[in-house]
Amino acid sequence: MIESTDFLVHKHFGKLLADKDVEILDPATGTGTFITELIDYLPKQSLEHKYKHEIHCNEVAILPYYIANLNIEYTYKQKMGVYEEFENICFVDTLDNTSFAGKQLDLFAMSVENTARIKRQNDRTISVIIGNPPYNANQQNENDNNKNRSYPAIDKLIKESYVKYSTAQKTKRYDMYSRFFRWATNRLNENGILAFITNSSFIHSKEADGFRKAVFDEFSEIYIIDLGGDIRGGDKTGNVFNVQVGIAISFMIKKETNNRLPCKIFYSSTPQLKTADTKLKFISDSKLSEICFEHIISDINHNWIKIKENDFEDLLPLVNKETKLVKHLDEEKAVFKLFSLGVVTNRDDWVYDFSESNIFDKMSFFFDEFNAERIKLIKSNISDYSLSNSIKWTRELKKQLQKDNKLILNKECIINSFYRPYVKKYLYYNKYVNEMQYQIPSIFHKNHDRNQVITYSFGKRGNFSLIVTDCIFSLDTYLPNATQSFPLYRYDKEGKRIDNITDWGLKQIQTHYQDIAITKIDIFHYTYAVLHNPAYRSKYELNLKREFPRLPYYENFQKWVNWGKQLMELHINYETVTPYNLTRLDIPLKDNQKTPKPKLKADKTKNSIILDDVTTLENIPKIAWEYMLGNRCALEWILDQYKEKKPKDPTIAEKFNTYRFADYKEQVIDLLMRVCTVSVETMNIIREMSESG
Ligand SMILES: C[S@@+](CC[C@H](N)C(=O)[O-])C[C@H]1O[C@@H](n2cnc3c(N)ncnc32)[C@H](O)[C@@H]1O
Repeated sequence: MIESTDFLVHKHFGKLLADKDVEILDPATGTGTFITELIDYLPKQSLEHKYKHEIHCNEVAILPYYIANLNIEYTYKQKMGVYEEFENICFVDTLDNTSFAGKQLDLFAMSVENTARIKRQNDRTISVIIGNPPYNANQQNENDNNKNRSYPAIDKLIKESYVKYSTAQKTKRYDMYSRFFRWATNRLNENGILAFITNSSFIHSKEADGFRKAVFDEFSEIYIIDLGGDIRGGDKTGNVFNVQVGIAISFMIKKETNNRLPCKIFYSSTPQLKTADTKLKFISDSKLSEICFEHIISDINHNWIKIKENDFEDLLPLVNKETKLVKHLDEEKAVFKLFSLGVVTNRDDWVYDFSESNIFDKMSFFFDEFNAERIKLIKSNISDYSLSNSIKWTRELKKQLQKDNKLILNKECIINSFYRPYVKKYLYYNKYVNEMQYQIPSIFHKNHDRNQVITYSFGKRGNFSLIVTDCIFSLDTYLPNATQSFPLYRYDKEGKRIDNITDWGLKQIQTHYQDIAITKIDIFHYTYAVLHNPAYRSKYELNLKREFPRLPYYENFQKWVNWGKQLMELHINYETVTPYNLTRLDIPLKDNQKTPKPKLKADKTKNSIILDDVTTLENIPKIAWEYMLGNRCALEWILDQYKEKKPKDPTIAEKFNTYRFADYKEQVIDLLMRVCTVSVETMNIIREMSESG
């Protein structure tokens, strides 16, 4: 990375890293690898000046800070033959130090020497920021008390750029590596280079569209080496850091000229390299000038790769952020006004259960523990580091603790919810113990008035899937993808029901088909049918992974409406449709066995489902396996959810692990038979769609 950065500094600014006034900063130096490599790389004659004045680094954790100090001074001594204290390493949280945003760091708690170093660094003009900032995109467990904290100044800058430009609703851009990109972009001089090795999700994820637009606007050239290894995203090649997320090296060049041309993006990936070792060898052996880069032209939605040419942009938008936010009806330009992600609890083991009484017991315990902590806190004014670990703490819950809000169990909060495809669970639906409810309160008002919501899987993993439901649903319905949705109705604060299909949408469709008899319910059904159409899904496969769906106008509107209506009736009423006539085989228990061991396995070659040691369901129609929802078919979702698994939460595992398949066996058999009917009939309708051409 250092050699490549040097190449780019020369190419763009006619200088070398070794030259005077090229100041280099590693903002998350860890044990100092980049700085020691830099010392090794720079020529001896310029090193003393660079070392004393123009190489800087920061570290927030005490142990790596000391190690970095030792490593850097040792490397310098080895090369120069003299020991020299390295005075340009700061023990500081880089992201707090945002003097460029007008916010000075609170330096009270720092040593005099460290404070002087930070001030000195802040006065320097930095031309190169190089590093390996933390790659975790998501926040960590609140119980560990090491969760990524908030950074008001840097997060404000993110809000005004990466988030502002994003069309995604879930703008998860306040993660550590985005913060470091934001910080570095602002910290750099007008002319400078950012060289980071980070999480690679910014290259392709939908949520990063705003990020891509911002860097496109703020830099003049970008080089990306995509090292793959996105294990979670299904990439089976090795990961250079042995982590689950993909990794990329980026070089971004900032160049302030009067007549700036649009940013040029160069992309290179390494699919041919299968192992982490070959990738590491590639990084260390390759010169940037020799790497084969593809010049990428961003599309209008700021997609950089996997852009597919089709007419998606010309279709009718089903939802968009603008329509959701506008106050005036005449500004609405999408078929549905409101859309929402599903409920995020951050403590599923606590707040979901197949048993109403177990959820009651769990939540009684939970609130007792919470209130006991609350009282302890009032009495002793203790810090949250001594909070009991017996319950799962989250940011929202800690807020309630700070506010001294007594939480009381309310039986009415226990509701039936759509947890996974065709699997309902009781949910303790309450804003204090559900981390995010998004717009769900506007979809299901206080009394949980009836509504119908088209939920669908949103993200790059697995295929596009959808189910309509009349229940509150989880963000993880289609795990590992997120669950997005648009409801038929929405409710205002007073509980007044409002059509969620806009007048604009109705007018577009009535005008297109020249039929004023078309209703909003027809549109709801039509949408549901179209989104099931295999031809639609394959044509727009890539679009559906990163954009909100759009609606084509198909011939014979009414036929699609009817298909949508039939599918909706099947899917909403899946618990009451006629059970499919599967053959049930029961064999006697072995002599010494008290209860059969649960298996819950599908055997697709034998068209059977093995429930436990003694019971098998046979003659599953082949077509039923084809009704896929993400990575599993409908029947497999049920089998997966009713397995006996050890809860991840230690308290739940110890005190409330009451689920036994045997208690639900008959219920599961009944459900499987009914969902078998749903699967067969759904696939029959989908086949009719395919055959209609
Ligand atoms: C992935 S490691 C960097 C590894 C580094 N290249 C090395 O040679 O060890 C990221 C480092 O950044 C540090 N870090 C994380 N957040 C930071 C922050 N806000 N300010 C400064 N350092 C930070 C971590 O403590 C960690 O040591």
